[in-house]
Amino acid sequence: MKDFATLIQERYSTRSFKPDAIDADKVAVLLEAARVAPTAHNNQPQRIKVLSSQAELALVDEFTPCRFGAPLVFVVSFDKQTAWKRPFDGVDSGVVDSSIVTTHLMLQAADIGLASVWVMYFDAVKASELLGLADGLLPVAVLPVGYPADDAKPSPFHAERVPVFDLLI
Ligand SMILES: Cc1cc2nc3c(=O)[nH]c(=O)nc-3n(C[C@H](O)[C@H](O)[C@H](O)COP(=O)(O)O)c2cc1C
Repeated sequence: MKDFATLIQERYSTRSFKPDAIDADKVAVLLEAARVAPTAHNNQPQRIKVLSSQAELALVDEFTPCRFGAPLVFVVSFDKQTAWKRPFDGVDSGVVDSSIVTTHLMLQAADIGLASVWVMYFDAVKASELLGLADGLLPVAVLPVGYPADDAKPSPFHAERVPVFDLLI
């Protein structure tokens, strides 16, 4: 098993997947990571669609071009009623909570030998319709997951991170 520092250095957005199905026990490990993610006020507004049948994957392809052949897709949404609201201005925590949940999924996937890519380039209205999301659920992130294809490699931009110094203000 890789230590955490190595895992986050080596993870990259994978845009070419093998079609091989992901075992149910691995899906369960991923969902546990999503379950234990911290959320504002511990309100746990995350609501997750797990899509893996051919019919479901075909629906995903209708709302994003970014599945890249992955055999498993998580759509992480949040329930607007459940998400914590900041009393000063009413801003809710749903997008932040969902982003942490998606990060847990992404890093847990890497830890069990699976690749993923975070996708924001999707039609959220179409996704809600096609997936039959209940009113009040807002999809935040699509996460295709699978085994990397033999030709999978990081994008040329992957390593283009600014020095820490540039991030400090
Ligand atoms: C919020 C967010 C949205 C993203 N949306 C997309 C997307 O729609 N399509 C895509 O191919 N990659 C998407 N990415 C992946 C980023 O392009 C990628 O993380 C970034 O270029 C750094 O590369 P790396 O993940 O290989 O380190 C997204 C990443 C984040 C964090």
